[in-house]
Amino acid sequence: MTLSMRGALRTFNRGTEDERIALDRIDLDVAERDVVVIIGSNGAGKSTLLNAITGQLALDSGTILIDGEAVERQPEQRRARLIARVAQDPMRGTFPTLTLAENLVLADLRSRPRGLRPALGRARVERFEAVLSRFGLGLEKRLGTRVGTLSGGQRQVLALAMAVLNPPRLLLLDEHTAALDPRTAALVMAATFRAIADGGLTALMVTHNMQQAIDHGNRLLMMDAGRIVLDLDAEQKAAMTVAGLVARFQVADDKLLLQT
Ligand SMILES: Nc1ncnc2c1ncn2[C@@H]1O[C@H](COP(=O)(O)OP(=O)(O)OP(=O)(O)O)[C@@H](O)[C@H]1O
Ligand SMILES: [Mg+2]
Repeated sequence: MTLSMRGALRTFNRGTEDERIALDRIDLDVAERDVVVIIGSNGAGKSTLLNAITGQLALDSGTILIDGEAVERQPEQRRARLIARVAQDPMRGTFPTLTLAENLVLADLRSRPRGLRPALGRARVERFEAVLSRFGLGLEKRLGTRVGTLSGGQRQVLALAMAVLNPPRLLLLDEHTAALDPRTAALVMAATFRAIADGGLTALMVTHNMQQAIDHGNRLLMMDAGRIVLDLDAEQKAAMTVAGLVARFQVADDKLLLQT
């Protein structure tokens, strides 16, 4: 899908001492099958950007077009048919007291609400097994297990499986491996990019890991104080180094210091 944002503005605590411009009139065009990595210091506005796209947060002003259709006034549930999201916290996005199969049924109903029943038929079980087996943790053999008994990494893989069960038009990943140990993080990251490639998905991924930002995707954005301060295409990104990115952070921080 294509995503197009114009003048996206979101302020928190407007008119108070704590006023924060989390999105400062963002203009952004994402092409079909783009995989955009987003970096930026804490509080730069990365999560707010994703929240505005999903509809979890309303914009003060500005437009968001998905495949040319204005969605900025659509409720979150309506956009959920097109957009899937995996957050940083493995405890979010999955239901601990339900089994893996039940969680996947809910994901199925969420992304394909019309004409679907909650029943767990053979065909559905096979689909669930297929999607889980792609991640290589053996979770396809544990469909009847309660999710609350899984480790954080296993839950995060389930959250990812739920997000890509019916390939979304847009996949949003917000530091989705940050809470995992290095080995599991690498596994989940590899599985993520397999799912993106297999589904031909368009995706936005937020990370604080500069090496990941350089290794993955075909475009790199750096945010700072609610703005996009760096936008590298695939070629520029391929030429970028971790040290180069860190130096750009420094420039952004210095600017911020001068402003305040
Ligand atoms: N619900 C909220 N209420 C008040 N202020 C908020 C809220 N959400 C975000 N903010 C503010 O908006 C700004 C952007 O926050 P955001 O969470 O988008 O940053 P981020 O780039 O995702 O940071 P991090 O890397 O720490 O996740 C920050 O100044 C933050 O304090
Ligand atoms: Mg964030």
